[in-house]
Amino acid sequence: MDAKFIITSCNFNKRFMEKYLAVLCFLFISLHMKALCEERQVYIVYLGEHSGNRNFEEIEEHHRSFLHSVKGSKQEAETCLIHSYKHIINGFSAFLTPEEASTVSEMDGVISVFRSQTRRLRLQTTRSWDFTNLLEANGDLSRVNGEKLLQRASYGKDVIVGVFDSGIWPESRSFNDEGMEPVPKSWKGTCQQGIAFNSSHCNRKIIGARYYLKHYEAEHGPVKEKMEFRSPRDKNGHGTHTASTIGGRRVPNASSLGGFANGTASGGAPLVRLAIYKVCWQPDPLDEPVCPDGDTLAAFDDAIKDGVHVISLSIGSYTSSPYAEDGTAIGSLHALKRDIIVVCSAGNSGPTPSSVSNVAPWLISVGASSIDRIFQSTIVLGNGLIVQGRTVTPFRKTKKYPLVYAVDVEIPGKTTNVTTGRCFPGTLSKKLVKGKVVFCWVGFISQALEVRRAGGVAAIFGNPYGGKGVVESPFLLPGTTVLQNDRATIVSYILNNENPTATLFPGRTIIGTGPAPFMAPFTALGPNGIEPNILKPDITAPGLNILAAWTEASPPTQLLQDHRVVKYNIGSGTSMSCPHVSAVAALLKAIHPDWSSAAIRSSLMTTG
Ligand SMILES: *[C@@H]1O[C@H](CO)[C@@H](O)[C@H](O)[C@H]1NC(C)=O
Ligand SMILES: *[C@@H]1O[C@H](CO)[C@@H](O)[C@H](O)[C@H]1NC(C)=O
Ligand SMILES: *[C@@H]1O[C@H](CO)[C@@H](O)[C@H](O)[C@H]1NC(C)=O
Ligand SMILES: *[C@@H]1O[C@H](CO)[C@@H](O)[C@H](O)[C@H]1NC(C)=O
Repeated sequence: MDAKFIITSCNFNKRFMEKYLAVLCFLFISLHMKALCEERQVYIVYLGEHSGNRNFEEIEEHHRSFLHSVKGSKQEAETCLIHSYKHIINGFSAFLTPEEASTVSEMDGVISVFRSQTRRLRLQTTRSWDFTNLLEANGDLSRVNGEKLLQRASYGKDVIVGVFDSGIWPESRSFNDEGMEPVPKSWKGTCQQGIAFNSSHCNRKIIGARYYLKHYEAEHGPVKEKMEFRSPRDKNGHGTHTASTIGGRRVPNASSLGGFANGTASGGAPLVRLAIYKVCWQPDPLDEPVCPDGDTLAAFDDAIKDGVHVISLSIGSYTSSPYAEDGTAIGSLHALKRDIIVVCSAGNSGPTPSSVSNVAPWLISVGASSIDRIFQSTIVLGNGLIVQGRTVTPFRKTKKYPLVYAVDVEIPGKTTNVTTGRCFPGTLSKKLVKGKVVFCWVGFISQALEVRRAGGVAAIFGNPYGGKGVVESPFLLPGTTVLQNDRATIVSYILNNENPTATLFPGRTIIGTGPAPFMAPFTALGPNGIEPNILKPDITAPGLNILAAWTEASPPTQLLQDHRVVKYNIGSGTSMSCPHVSAVAALLKAIHPDWSSAAIRSSLMTTG
């Protein structure tokens, strides 16, 4: 029985039978279709650029013809087609077997056939614009007067930035459009409706919003309603954070949970227009969002046609592919040809050599560095010794509690000599931890959860990274992180005292700290794995403990156990530094509309 027959008979049934029969029939088709495309993977077939001689129908027919020649029937070719790129980029994505993919790659006009790399949003995630001198003049004439520069650029009001990410939380004050001028006439985009998102959620700030999930669903199955909004609305928080860093309005008195990083929150180009392209989807609660190339290419095809000037793409991969097999490299090449600037994150897999991703020469690849701000919290040990920790977890000064080293309070057999002292989930003994402060050799949010599970009253962590950089997140119990050099002090105090104790003082925001900037410990490094003669990353920008807007649909830690809701959150990663550069590129574009994207990239790299 072929698909055509089933479809026809279903139409027939629909007309005459009860609704549930139609549903059964639909299920039957779905199963049948699934069987047709089973055991096949999603491939992207890249054909270059459209010449403008074909209409949409002809283009899709042309794309299907490639599939038809390797598939059994026309219907099968139709079913297995996922995306057909029709505006600028010529190509399609489809279910193919490796053999079919290989056959297609030999056909006339085919440039490349490839599978998507694993691309994800990875958060490590007020002050950054002051630090870069873009928000306030500081009277030092040798430095750039930031406010003047912003004025010259009209705060970016005529520039449109496309944000490829996990969507947007439109209710954030950062995206209010009070006093903004009408949407630029050049804009040809749209505000796509979906779950909890309709045209009223776009405004003069968020001028467009779309979502792409065909490739995602082909590989991961239908988007789960509990996990995601099937719309441009941001469930994860990452997209809201990056978009507000680029173009958030000035919001006074913003801060993270507990009042850290307080001040005026602002995007780098506060009047710039944002166009949201949601290409990243969260498969499971604890999983990082996935951003398949097939959907990203569809977004590039639309964004170029819609009329964006800058594309900001805080999406990283762990490996690099040759440019013709890399959706971001292909999409950004077509963007560049129209003088659209594409800015990408360099990745958070450092300091491993050659960990940098997004290495195509025509896009801007951004590393992450610190700003001049820390969140200091003092620990007083029982012998009066003071150790400085760092925290953005809100808590009051603790009592003087007994202090234990994790190594001494573990459940026997739950750790090895490699995992001991590290507070891994399920390793701590409730009996030995209850009512105490636990010192873990290294730790972050999941280790804080483990100390809480075991009944600890507070935690002190050794920084997983060397150097001064501490990646901050608000823990679910009082806790602070000490630099690696201070770990031995605490362990030695515990070993050499009968009744060790610790008192934790609340954290506070300190600005003007130095030296700054220094490179963030996680920022990905060159050399460029595809073409070592081309240096990557291109530039660095603030990406360590950056405050920006957040979704109200996910807690600040993105942990299931966390039920807190925040409007602003602290995030770290090259995902946070990339939008800083996107904002500056937008301002330069506003001042020099005639500059090519290569000129803007060059001026950024040569002047910092
Ligand atoms: C859009 O959604 C809001 C609620 O989020 C609702 O109040 C409004 O009526 C909707 N507008 C349209 C045009 O459907
Ligand atoms: C910001 O907070 C301070 C102190 O709480 C308050 O005096 C001030 O009015 C607030 N400013 C705005 C614009 O809300
Ligand atoms: C942050 O809040 C503290 C305490 O209220 C205040 O002293 C400080 O000036 C604020 N910082 C900024 C940048 O607004
Ligand atoms: C851990 O123990 C194993 C054997 O029990 C040993 O081979 C290994 O060297 C030890 N590792 C460390 C870091 O001590």
